[in-house]
This record gives sequence, structure tokens and C-alpha cells, in this order.
Amino acid sequence: MQRKIKVITTAVMLSAVASFVNAADLTKAYEMPDASKMIEKDALAKPTKYTMPKGCISTDAELIARGEYIFHNLNGKKAKKTPPKGLVKFIEKKGKDGKVKKKPKQYGNCVACHNIEGAKGAGNIGPDLTGYKAMFIDTKTRDNQFVFQKIADARIDNPKTHMTINLTTKLFNEREICDIASYIVADKKK
Ligand code: HEC
Repeated sequence: MQRKIKVITTAVMLSAVASFVNAADLTKAYEMPDASKMIEKDALAKPTKYTMPKGCISTDAELIARGEYIFHNLNGKKAKKTPPKGLVKFIEKKGKDGKVKKKPKQYGNCVACHNIEGAKGAGNIGPDLTGYKAMFIDTKTRDNQFVFQKIADARIDNPKTHMTINLTTKLFNEREICDIASYIVADKKK
């Protein structure tokens, strides 16, 4: 009797060990992607210095209107007014299934953090950009290149910035950054 119990106990223990080993083996059945690669993919690219292209800052009303539209709107779906010439509300993007889909274009929504002439419900995380030309450009406190770089990649000026990164992330292209910068430094007095 005693011996029988011993045998049974040993058998139970052995099967417990076996299932533990099996459980441990199961991890091999999972897909274990290298997390560091995923983090790398999602991480922002390094802070990048840019040189403002020739003819970047302009007083052309059409171009400034585009900059203004990007500054005040979140995306093509939320934007109410018709976009100015040269700017679209929706862009066509190829999905994973290969089908072309219409996606609302992402704008700057700079008003979430900055006040400026005509802003509605502007946030105050970033400095007020009202009267920027008179206050910063005319006084030579800032220049166009600074404004361009700030919008393109704010980390060059402030590594701990809370501002969105726009050119390094390819959220906007160079021309669009120039349009936004032109709007900020424009004389808005009427
Ligand atoms: C999440 C908040 C946030 C958003 C969104 C944001 N900014 Fe900023 N911005 C800041 C902060 C904070 C600063 C102050 C400097 C810094 O920390 O980088 C700043 C600084 C600036 C400056 C420099 C002002 C100066 O002369 O010192 C400019 C120009 C500017 N932002 C433009 C923009 C534009 C254009 C957009 C939209 C494309 C935008 N910002 C979106 C937070 C923001």
C-alpha cells in the first residue's frame, strides 16, 4: 500500500515536471519579434538642421493663405472652409490591400498651442505669435531661418521642446513649411 502511494506520488510529480517543461517549451511556439527594432521604427529620427531653401519666405497672398490654413486647422475632415488654392482636404493613399483610399490631409493645428491673429480658442502651451513680425523680425530678435527651422524641427533650438516635429517626420514638405513660416512672419495689419 505504502509503496503504491509512493509510486502514484512520484508519477504525479513527474507529470507536473513534464507539463512545466512543456509549458516552458511553448514559448518557442510564440512569435517573439525583437521589440528593440519596433521601438527603433517608431522613434523619432534624430534632430535635423535644415537650411531654408531659396525663395522660401514670400509675401505672395496665395502662399500665405495656405500657411494660414495649415496653422488654424487640424485636418481635412475637421476643416470647415474650402482650402486655398494649392491645398487639398483629402489625399489618396494606397492601403495594405492595395486599394487607393481617400484620407483627410493632416494640417498643423498650431492653434492648439499658439495664439495668433484671428485664432479661435487658441492654447497657450507655446508662445503667442500675435504681432510676430513687429516684435521679433523687425527687431532682429529672430530671423526667417529661425522660424523655418523651428517649424521644421524644433529640437535644434530646444532639445526638450514640446512642439510637433514637422519636416523630419515628413508631416509637411519643405514648401509647406515655407508657407507656414511666411504666414507667421507676414505683416498681418490691415
Ligand atoms: C504641443 C504644442 C505645440 C504645437 C502643436 C506647436 N507648437 Fe510651436 N512652440 C511650442 C512651444 C512650447 C514653443 C516654445 C519653444 C520650444 O519649447 O520649443 C514653440 C515655439 C514656436 C515658435 C518660435 C517662437 C519664437 O520666436 O520663440 C514658432 C515660430 C512656432 N512655435 C510655430 C509653430 C507652428 C507653425 C506650429 C504648427 C505647425 C506649432 N508651432 C505647433 C509648442 C507648440
